[in-house]
Amino acid sequence: MQIKSFAEYEETYRFSVEWPEKFWAGIAEEFLWRKKWDKVLSWNFSEPNIKWFEGAKLNITENCLDRHLAKNGDKPAIIWESNDPDKSSITLTYKVLHEQVCRFANVLKKNGVVKGDRICIYMPMVPELAVAVLACARIGAVHSVIFGGFSAKSIADRINDSACKLVITADGSFRGNKQIQLKEVIDDALIGCPTVEKVIVLTHTRTPVSMLKGRDLWFEDEIKQVDTDCPAEEMDAEDMLFILYTSGSTGKPKGVVHTVGGYMVYAGYTFTNAFNYQPDEVFFCTADIGWITGHSYIVYGPLSQGATTLMFEGVPTHPTPSRLWEIIEKHKVNILYTAPTAIRSLMSYGTDPLKGKDLSTLRVLGSVGEPINEEAWHWFDEEVGHKNCPIVDTWWQTETGGLMISPIAFVTPLKPACATLPLPGIQPILVDEQGNEIEGNGVNGNLCIKFPWPGMLRTTYGDHERCKQTYFSTYPDLYFTGDGCMRDEDGYYKITGRVDDVINVSGHRIGTAEVENAINMHAGVVESAVVGYPHEIKGQGIFAFIIYPKLHNESDLTKKDILQTVTRVIGAIAKPDKIVFVSGLPKTRSGKIMRRILRKIAEGETTNLGDTSTLLDPAVVEEIIVAAKQL
Ligand code: WTA
Repeated sequence: MQIKSFAEYEETYRFSVEWPEKFWAGIAEEFLWRKKWDKVLSWNFSEPNIKWFEGAKLNITENCLDRHLAKNGDKPAIIWESNDPDKSSITLTYKVLHEQVCRFANVLKKNGVVKGDRICIYMPMVPELAVAVLACARIGAVHSVIFGGFSAKSIADRINDSACKLVITADGSFRGNKQIQLKEVIDDALIGCPTVEKVIVLTHTRTPVSMLKGRDLWFEDEIKQVDTDCPAEEMDAEDMLFILYTSGSTGKPKGVVHTVGGYMVYAGYTFTNAFNYQPDEVFFCTADIGWITGHSYIVYGPLSQGATTLMFEGVPTHPTPSRLWEIIEKHKVNILYTAPTAIRSLMSYGTDPLKGKDLSTLRVLGSVGEPINEEAWHWFDEEVGHKNCPIVDTWWQTETGGLMISPIAFVTPLKPACATLPLPGIQPILVDEQGNEIEGNGVNGNLCIKFPWPGMLRTTYGDHERCKQTYFSTYPDLYFTGDGCMRDEDGYYKITGRVDDVINVSGHRIGTAEVENAINMHAGVVESAVVGYPHEIKGQGIFAFIIYPKLHNESDLTKKDILQTVTRVIGAIAKPDKIVFVSGLPKTRSGKIMRRILRKIAEGETTNLGDTSTLLDPAVVEEIIVAAKQL
């Protein structure tokens, strides 16, 4: 199923648009099914109702584990590299991973978990996290992984939204020189989570934790009490595989739902093609499994293809800015998949950290999560790839399940900082504000997708209407991505960034409304408005304009209090980078905040603010400009 030449890509693409069902059925044939589908696809985008491989039966872990055992049982499935460079790495072969997954699946069963139950996972980047994820999939439980940087309140909201029955966590996690007390955060979260019956706690940092009788169990004790025989639950292709919460422009994060069959086919197909993975290569994705990139390209994509996936607990610049390069050298990494924010951060240390590091095993580089700037792209190309490794700039989203617009390594002619062309089966279109298709090349518009693909979200958990409103209502009969995009003279797609109120900070999606709600929870804050602004390393930073009438002299202290509040309510990842206190916000007469103006001010613009005549109180703009300048 690997595409070998550009001519083949063009032919495959044409076929995939003309005969989508035949195309995807052909790809799906390469996977292991207990029973094949009765129907490849039924769909409409108006409800929306999307079904792939209806009637088919399978278990994704049989594809990720069992089917590799006979030939590749002793091949490394996961190589784990600790946060601490002095600690030795761990290799789990397919055989060992299979055993551990089966064992832990039996632990879940023993604790009353059955098919369809939702399980919350809040863990460090350790092999047991992958084991926990796969163990859920083995027995048909739905995992909801929460990134280790979220607060107790965020966790509680997510647990309650999907009524999780059990939580899998650890005492703590290491990230760089920081330690996060995961169990403590979970304990705080669970005060408000009546549906959680059991908590399984892995020992990792060995920090003291409170263990509640009747609720909390040690991972290490539990796995001793079960055996390794755990037949995989037979799943329907459209049964739920996981929920992953993600931010949008309004309200609380949504639980994006992916189903077993389509997601598996899509993650596997895109992995093999875009990265040109070859047997015995080591694939290193630096994402965290708490995000979709980790789900699809640390766990499911690589393992479904029998690949070796490298999992790294720490951060690329700890304990020194050479760390990432040392890992590549040590494990002879062939494919490196990372984020622009990481590249920019590494770039800021210059080329010294790279000196003497053998990166000659690298063959393909990848970028994901945010638009990559040309400077970072060229640095990656020259200093890391030595102009010898194609860079695949992969555009996709939590909702799309896998890569959508991306070069295929060694196949697609590249352009710096450009996602290039849609993968086979993906039909992007650009539309104007009214939803009219913008045809031709050399144009800009809002990026939509007009035909389903197997990896797309099926619903948002517990609220199908919200899924419809968010993705399928802005433009009828189209999936709206929320991104702006340019199609250049050659028909290449270049993503320009979000066109909604979502900020992309270090590749993490953060809704402005969420941050505003968190800030507004601080006593003394009357109102706030949050916008993104260009940030050298993070891509975008968070700029908050806050009305706080009773501000005392120590405004710095108040800023710190507000940051603390945001950390409590959402998590440290949502802390504003800049705060200004103002007496009013630019509002229209109907009371709408004109973020356009605030965005310009946050970017440092003071004169060309556009039309301000519709503002209720234009004078407030002057005051805000002065306040922002003083930062
Ligand atoms: C942005 C991450 C430009 C985009 C996989 C999208 C990108 C959002 C790229 C999804 C890219 C992701 N170039 N922008 N290569 N990849 N984005 O759900 O705005 O965390 O809508 O999924 O990240 O973020 P999410």
